[in-house]
Amino acid sequence: MSTRGFLIDFMAISCFFFIFLEFPYFTNHFFLYFQLFEGMKAYRGVDGKIRLFRPDMNMARMNLTARRSGLPTFDGREYVNCMARLISIDQEWVPHTEAASLYIRPTLIGIDPTLGVASSDSALLYTLLCPVGTYFKSDTSGAVSLLADPKYTRAWPGGVGNRKMGSNYAPTINVQKEASKKGLQQVLWLYGEDHQLTEVGTMNIFMFHVNEQGEKELVTPPLDGLILPGITRDSIIALGRQWGQFKVTERKFTMPEVVKSLEQGRMLELFGTGTACVVSPINRIH
Ligand SMILES: Cc1ncc(COP(=O)(O)O)c(C=O)c1O
Repeated sequence: MSTRGFLIDFMAISCFFFIFLEFPYFTNHFFLYFQLFEGMKAYRGVDGKIRLFRPDMNMARMNLTARRSGLPTFDGREYVNCMARLISIDQEWVPHTEAASLYIRPTLIGIDPTLGVASSDSALLYTLLCPVGTYFKSDTSGAVSLLADPKYTRAWPGGVGNRKMGSNYAPTINVQKEASKKGLQQVLWLYGEDHQLTEVGTMNIFMFHVNEQGEKELVTPPLDGLILPGITRDSIIALGRQWGQFKVTERKFTMPEVVKSLEQGRMLELFGTGTACVVSPINRIH
């Protein structure tokens, strides 16, 4: 099958832990947001082997989200085994190119047929597969431009910004549309009166700069509940610390700090990280 063929939208629903064939419209995930998901990718290496990237971390994060939603948790290792089996059956859907991969969307929804605001006693766990190419529309250099409007907030202390729930994503769509209307590709989510940078679209954010002490520093916001604990983020922090060539810091940073660093010629790079785009440079904030 050709690479082009792989990029045709395709969805395979499989791996049912809880089989539920009668699916009434009033199951509670439709209106109470008993729904959560993960995003992973299977890559075909230059050696032809298919690999998942740190799937154990996706499973741990998904179980934390399930617990926070009051949905049942599951054995993450068993689920990875199921997904590995599914991908080996459908292996020709993993593109034979470095420019594309197979996106994997494990999903968990509550399916109690009830109108009440109560925990869900039954759930459906399933996996969607879809070959994907480049995620974001970017300019020719591959960089993205951002809308930063402090009147919008993605997450707040005590909320669920650090969990991958469906309810976190729907309210971002309209703001994303506003960004698109202004010719910008993504939303930079700010928080607080000091305009802390938290996340960019569905990516964690990093700033690589020379700090006021003259040291090269890679900065990213801390895991304080406002941001998703990204697996790409974790990998970049670990690699940066392993290289030992610059300081790696998890701390809050604000728009005034970004502006000052830019004005003083100390900014080296701003970028977002995530499964969808891996690493995406940022070229403009509006
Ligand atoms: C809001 C948000 N932030 C950050 C990320 C990046 O996380 P990861 O690197 O695990 O894909 C994602 C993607 O899952 C996300 O949805």
